[in-house]
Amino acid sequence: MHSLKRYNSFGIDALANELLPIKSEADLLNADFSQPYRILGGGTNVLLLKSVYDRIFLNQLQGIQIVNETEDDVTVHVASGENWHEFVMWTVAHKFSGIENLSLIPGTVGAAPVQNIGAYGVELKNVLQSVEGYHLPEKLKVKFNNSECQFSYRSSIFKTTLKNSFFITGINLLLSKKQIPKLEYGSIKEILDKNGISKPSILDVSNAVISIRQSKLPDPKIIGNAGSFFKNSSIPLKQFEVIKSKFPTIPAYPDDLGMVKLSSGWLIEQCGWKGKQLNNAASYEKQALVLINLGHASGQDILNLAQKIQEDVYLKFGLKLEPEVNFWD
Ligand code: EPU
Repeated sequence: MHSLKRYNSFGIDALANELLPIKSEADLLNADFSQPYRILGGGTNVLLLKSVYDRIFLNQLQGIQIVNETEDDVTVHVASGENWHEFVMWTVAHKFSGIENLSLIPGTVGAAPVQNIGAYGVELKNVLQSVEGYHLPEKLKVKFNNSECQFSYRSSIFKTTLKNSFFITGINLLLSKKQIPKLEYGSIKEILDKNGISKPSILDVSNAVISIRQSKLPDPKIIGNAGSFFKNSSIPLKQFEVIKSKFPTIPAYPDDLGMVKLSSGWLIEQCGWKGKQLNNAASYEKQALVLINLGHASGQDILNLAQKIQEDVYLKFGLKLEPEVNFWD
């Protein structure tokens, strides 16, 4: 039996009968996927709800290579078991721009396309060329181009149709050699202005993102969490107008599909949950959307809190919050 505590950022103390590292494609080809299994990357977006799991494959594939280079841009192949933030630091050090706004997101490279990770005005789909991996259990090698990945807000084909049946081995990203900082997200510009930086490099942007994240989001090494627990919701304009007539200060943003995007953190805060605990779980005091493990929470403790929050948000606003975290039940 192996404890999974250090393999999931919530720090839930579930167990696994077998923990099987995958360090190379040969390991993958030799592995037995005919029996029930799960694949774990950084464990930063999962909620472990069972007390014992059977077989867990740990993705430890490593390697970063430049596979194509022109005067303006570069294609980089990165193996799925690499740590995401360390890879971002590698791109910033090489002055390849595109993912600096995604600095300090916990987890592995392989989880990035599953979730279509996003922060501070950038989503992975903006720079992703292709995803490579094996369709399990036949172990058929497949490459998906960007549109085949069916990316949407915090989702992709790997989280839907191919859930649990595809092992991502690596991704190819198209990054720019021209430093084009993306500053649309207000607070990045604010920090840069405050520090007197008028012509920011991508290193400056990365540093600004790191300081915003550190000021609002708990470090999973210290406080167990999985980042935003719920997605933000997009609703039709008509429904928004009804809500706004009752709650005039509600923050809202147009989204690219002609809907209105609401901040789930704000909705949760309005229900009085920000910083509040239920048994061993709580909503984080600086960002209500982040649920935290207060010490010895079980997966069920976190789920109970999440369900209570969902109920209260539904009662007050008539909106169903959808989890962003994957439930391992
Ligand atoms: N807000 C509150 N109370 C809160 C939290 C947020 O009122 O407790 C409101 C405020 O109006 C604030 C707005 O929500 O201005 C936006 O908050 P924030 O900038 O923290 O972003 P978010 O919408 O809550 C999303 C992502 C984060 C990402 C940030 C920055 C989702 C589900 N979450 O959060 O991603 O870092 O934007 O781009 O889309 C993650 O996915 O794990 C994650 C951390």
